[in-house]
Amino acid sequence: MSKTIIVSNRLPISLRHRNGRFEFKPSAGGLATGLGSIYKEGENIWIGWPGNTVEDPEQRAEIILELHDLKMAPVFLTKEDVEEFYEGFSNETLWPAFHYFTQYMVYNPAHWEAYVRVNEKFCEAILKKAGPEDTIWVHDYQLLLLPQMLREKLPNATIAFFQHIPFPSYEIIRMIPWRKQLLEGMVGADLIGFHTYDDMRHFLSAVGRITGLSSESGYIQAENRIINVDSFPMGIDYDKFANQAKSRKTQSIVREFRKQVEDQKLIITIDRLDYSKGIPQRVQAFAQLLEQHKELHGKVSMIMIVVPSRDKVQSYKELKEEIDLLVGRINSEYSTLNWKPVHYFYRSFPFEELSAFYSMSDIALVTPLRDGMNLVCKEFVASKTSQTGVLILSEMAGASKELQDAVLVNPNDRQGVVDAIYNALSMKPAEQKARMVSMQESLKKYDVFQWVKVFMDRLAHVKAKQQELTSKDVDAKVMSEIEVAFQKAKKPILFLDYDGTLTGFVTNPKNALPDEELKSIIKNLSAKAEVVIISGRDKDTLGTWFKDQNVDLIAEHGVWVKKKTEKGDWKLYAEIEDGWKDDIRQIMEYYVLRTPGAFIEEKHHSLVWHYRKVESGLGDLRMRELFSHLKYMARGHNLQVLEGNMVLEIKRPDINKGRAATAIMKDQEFDFILAVGDDWTDEDTFKAMPKNAYSIRVGYAYTQANYNIKSVKQVRQLLAKLGS
Ligand code: UDP
Ligand code: G6P
Repeated sequence: MSKTIIVSNRLPISLRHRNGRFEFKPSAGGLATGLGSIYKEGENIWIGWPGNTVEDPEQRAEIILELHDLKMAPVFLTKEDVEEFYEGFSNETLWPAFHYFTQYMVYNPAHWEAYVRVNEKFCEAILKKAGPEDTIWVHDYQLLLLPQMLREKLPNATIAFFQHIPFPSYEIIRMIPWRKQLLEGMVGADLIGFHTYDDMRHFLSAVGRITGLSSESGYIQAENRIINVDSFPMGIDYDKFANQAKSRKTQSIVREFRKQVEDQKLIITIDRLDYSKGIPQRVQAFAQLLEQHKELHGKVSMIMIVVPSRDKVQSYKELKEEIDLLVGRINSEYSTLNWKPVHYFYRSFPFEELSAFYSMSDIALVTPLRDGMNLVCKEFVASKTSQTGVLILSEMAGASKELQDAVLVNPNDRQGVVDAIYNALSMKPAEQKARMVSMQESLKKYDVFQWVKVFMDRLAHVKAKQQELTSKDVDAKVMSEIEVAFQKAKKPILFLDYDGTLTGFVTNPKNALPDEELKSIIKNLSAKAEVVIISGRDKDTLGTWFKDQNVDLIAEHGVWVKKKTEKGDWKLYAEIEDGWKDDIRQIMEYYVLRTPGAFIEEKHHSLVWHYRKVESGLGDLRMRELFSHLKYMARGHNLQVLEGNMVLEIKRPDINKGRAATAIMKDQEFDFILAVGDDWTDEDTFKAMPKNAYSIRVGYAYTQANYNIKSVKQVRQLLAKLGS
C-alpha cells in the first residue's frame, strides 16, 4: 500500500534530557502542531530531527525503536549541524530574509555548506523509507534543496513541497548569494504550496527572474516537466480545539484560573519567542493603552505566553532580554497589590491549559510583524464556543486574508493597535457574535483535513497532467520508430520551424543565426529529404541565413515562399493589404515609449511588439495592456492578435503556416511527413498535417501535435540521426 512520507526539519515531538535520560515532549510551532493530526493515518510516517543531539549509538538505536512505534523516523544531526544548518543558515539567513528582517541576515559560506550537507542527510534518510508508489511531502524553509535532491534519485517520484513561512519579494530573495540553488531545489517538486496568493506570486516572479523558467497560470515549465504552484491556506483541527474547550477538564481549569484573575477582562497573546511576532511592540501598545485610559487600570490584564525558541541565536537572545525589560517596566509602573497588567510566562503549556487560556480570554491580540499563516488566531476562534470574544489580528499574518471578520490592524501603527484594543473591550456582544460565527464557519469548513485533501487532490491532478504530457514524449522508442519510417520513405518532407525549434532564444533575435552544427544537420537532411524551413522571420533574414542550403523557405508565417527548385526570388503567397498598419503602429509605438527595452518589428503582413529585453514583470504587464488595446482595434480591421514567446503579433488571420504548408504539399505525394515547432504559430502547421504525419512540439505545453519533445538539443539529436 502506498504511503505519504511527511518530511520536516522538526518532528512533532522533541527529545529532552532529564535525569540522564531522554524523554519526548510535543514540539511547538505551527508546522508540528498543525500536521500533528495527519501523519497518524494509514501507513504514513514522519521523518525529521528529534530536536536534540544524540551521539551514543545505543541511545540512538533505542530512540529509533521508540519513534518507530510512534510512526516517526529520526534524522540525527550533529552539534555542528545544529549550529551551522539549523541555527545558522535556516534561522540566521533564511528565516530573517523570508520575514523581511534583512538587518539580521548572516551570509556565511560554512553555514551554506552545512545546509547542503544536512539536506543530503535528509535525502538519504528518505531514500531508505520510500517505495516507488509513495508520496513524499517536504515541508518548510529548512529543506528547500531536498525536492531536487530527491528528484535526481527518484525521477518519477511524487514529490510535494509546502512552505509554512512567507515567500518574500524578489528584491529580498536576490540578496541571498545562493538564491539560484535554493529555487532550483524547490522546483524539484511536482506541486509547491504556499499559504497565500502573495507568497505564490513572489515565488513565481523569483523563479522567472533567477532561474529563467517561465510560468503560466501557476504552471512552471521545466525542461521535462510541468510544476504547479498554488496557494493553500492551512487550517487547524477545528473540532479538536472546539471539543477541548467544551471539555470538563478545560472548564475546570478555567474556573481555577478565573478565581485568580476575578472578573478582569483578559487579553491573551501566545507566540514562540520570535522577532517576527512583534512581541515588544505589542507590550508597548498595551502600555500606551494603560497610559491613555486610566479607567482601565485594575480592570484588564494581558496574559502573555512566550514559548522558548531558538534561544542560541543572537537575535533571539537579545529579543528575550528586550521583552523581559519591557514587561518589567510596565508591571513595575502599574501593578497594585491585587492587579498585575501583564502575566508573563516564558514556557510552553499543555494543551488543556492552552485551551483554557483561549476559552477564558475576551480578546486575542495577534499582531505579528510578519507571519506565514499564524495558527494561534485560528485556535482562539475555534476555542470560543461561547461565540463571544474579539480577535485582533495583524494584516501581516497570512491568516488575515481569510479572517476578514477579525479586527484587522497594522502592527506598526501603535495608536491603531491601542484603539483596536480599546474598541474591542467595549464591543457589543451582538457584534462579537456576528464576527465570531462567521469566522468559525469558515475555519470549520476549511480545517486541516480539508487542507490536506485539497493539496493531495491537486498533487494527483498535476501528476495526471504530467503523465498526459509524457505519454506524448519523444522517447527512445518513438525516436527509432520515426527513424525507421524515415529510412523507408521514398519521398519524405520535413517542416521545421526556426526559433525555439532549431535554435534557442537569445536576447537579441538578430543574433540567433544558424551555428555550424545546425548548418551541417540541415545539409545532411536536405540530401535525403525535402526540407522546408517554416518561420515567422522576415524573408531577408531567412534568405541570408539559408542562402547556401538546399531547402525551401517560408517566411513571415506563410506570406512569402522561396522554392529551391524555382531558382530566383521570393514569391508572395498572399496579397498584402497593409492599410491598417499605420493605426496599429501608432498604438504600438506608444507602448514602446512607455516600456524601456520594447521594440517593434515590421513584417510585410504583420507588426510585432517584442518585449524579451524588457524588465521581467513590466513586460508582461504592458503586453496585457497592449493586448486588450489591440484586440479592440483588430476587430475593426479584421485582424488577429496573437501572443507568442515574448512577442505580441498582429496580422491577417487568413495567413498562417498551416496554409503555406498545405500549399507546398499540394499535388505531391509524400510518404513521410514530419513537422516540428514550438509555439502557437506552429499549431497551425500541426493542424494542417495529414493523419499519418509526425508532428512534434518543443516543450511541454498542450498541443495539437502528436508528440512533445524536451528541448532544442533533442530536436537537433533527432534530426542529426535522420540525416546520418
Ligand atoms: N503552542 C504550543 N505550546 C504552547 C504554546 C503554543 O504548542 O505552549 C502552539 C500553538 O498552539 C500553535 C503553535 O504553537 O499551534 C504556534 O503556531 P503559529 O502558526 O501561530 O506560529 P509559529 O510558531 O508557527 O511561527
Ligand atoms: C515555524 C516554522 C517551522 C518551525 C517552527 C518552530 O512554525 O514554520 O518550520 O518548526 O516555527 O521553530 P523551530 O526552530 O523550533 O523548529
